[in-house]
Amino acid sequence: MKNPLQTKLCDLLGIEFPIIAFTHCKDVAVAVINAGGFAVLGEAMHTPEQIAADAKWIRDRVEGRPFGIDLVLPASVPPADTLEQLMEKIPQAQRDFAQQIKEKYDVPDPKGPIALHQWGGLNQAIARAQLEVLLDERVPVIASGLGSPAFILERAHQLGLKVFGLVGKTRQAKRQIDAGVDAVIAQGYDAAGHTGAMGTFSIVAEVASIAGDTPVIAAGGVTTGRHLAAALCLGAAGVWTGTRWLASRESDLDMILKEKLLAASADDTSYSTCISGMTMRVLACPWTEEWKKPGAPDVLPAPYQMLLSSDYLQGANDHRRADLMTEAAGQGVGFVTEMKPARQIVFDMVEEALATFDELTGEPA
Ligand SMILES: Cc1cc2nc3c(=O)[nH]c(=O)nc-3n(C[C@H](O)[C@H](O)[C@H](O)COP(=O)(O)O)c2cc1C
Repeated sequence: MKNPLQTKLCDLLGIEFPIIAFTHCKDVAVAVINAGGFAVLGEAMHTPEQIAADAKWIRDRVEGRPFGIDLVLPASVPPADTLEQLMEKIPQAQRDFAQQIKEKYDVPDPKGPIALHQWGGLNQAIARAQLEVLLDERVPVIASGLGSPAFILERAHQLGLKVFGLVGKTRQAKRQIDAGVDAVIAQGYDAAGHTGAMGTFSIVAEVASIAGDTPVIAAGGVTTGRHLAAALCLGAAGVWTGTRWLASRESDLDMILKEKLLAASADDTSYSTCISGMTMRVLACPWTEEWKKPGAPDVLPAPYQMLLSSDYLQGANDHRRADLMTEAAGQGVGFVTEMKPARQIVFDMVEEALATFDELTGEPA
């Protein structure tokens, strides 16, 4: 039997296993790439200088293997307001509610100014500046986590770079595939972070049915080899995974959050707009629970809600308040029960996926 893990995504990227790690941690990225998978580093919060330094750092450690960087390129954000100008637009009712939460849970003040000033979701000028660095540095794969990357395809392709777009709706996938993205990530409701309302099973199968030769990568709730095998059966050419790596040995996430993730199950995640103004899945925490209560004011649109929540989030993290801290986490978190090295996670997923195919076909893959 053909090796079911040898997919067109492997051919496209020259990798051994069709497993992509989305991570903010460079050590995780390097470990996954060197284990035969692929990794995309989330850099939406970083300055152009940091992004350039990180690209070089990874390049120096992967012996010519490709890697990716992910940004957010939202179309519907203010063009270039400063953080202060944006802050001034937050209405009093929402400010008062955030203050009530702060007093009720004794949320400490952040130790420094809020670190959001460089977020690509804040305004288009920041996102464009970040993107230029990816082109200058010839980052092999440019991924867009929010918003269509169609406008950079021509320049990226001229430089020999690949462009991946992450989508939550089949309609968005169709537009990006027609525009010529090199692969499309179909991300379902189960996912950590910003995610749409379509379930992973539905979106992956639907996007695969219209994708033609463009590889489809399944995302949302994928934390085991069985999930990988299932994604391939749905028509995906690989998986894109975030939650799986947060509690890995190499991950630089705060140990408090790692322990919370190891103990969490799908029920401990919360899906709402109260963190950023866009639908997002995170570990439930006092902030998410208070905004769900009757009487809570309306959540603000992006990026205003993100500015409002950042005082709570940063205060909780800066003071390492386990009772308040949260992190993006997907519904597959219940399978993340051990703090394994990233390399081991790759191999375990591969082994389990192959064993799953053997089980189904009755013959070794
Ligand atoms: C901590 C964390 C932060 C994330 N931030 C981003 C981001 O900045 N940009 C992005 O495209 N996706 C982001 N994601 C979503 C991932 O790209 C991925 O689609 C998601 O984690 C897949 O679902 P899973 O966590 O169930 O594997 C984030 C995920 C996590 C876990």
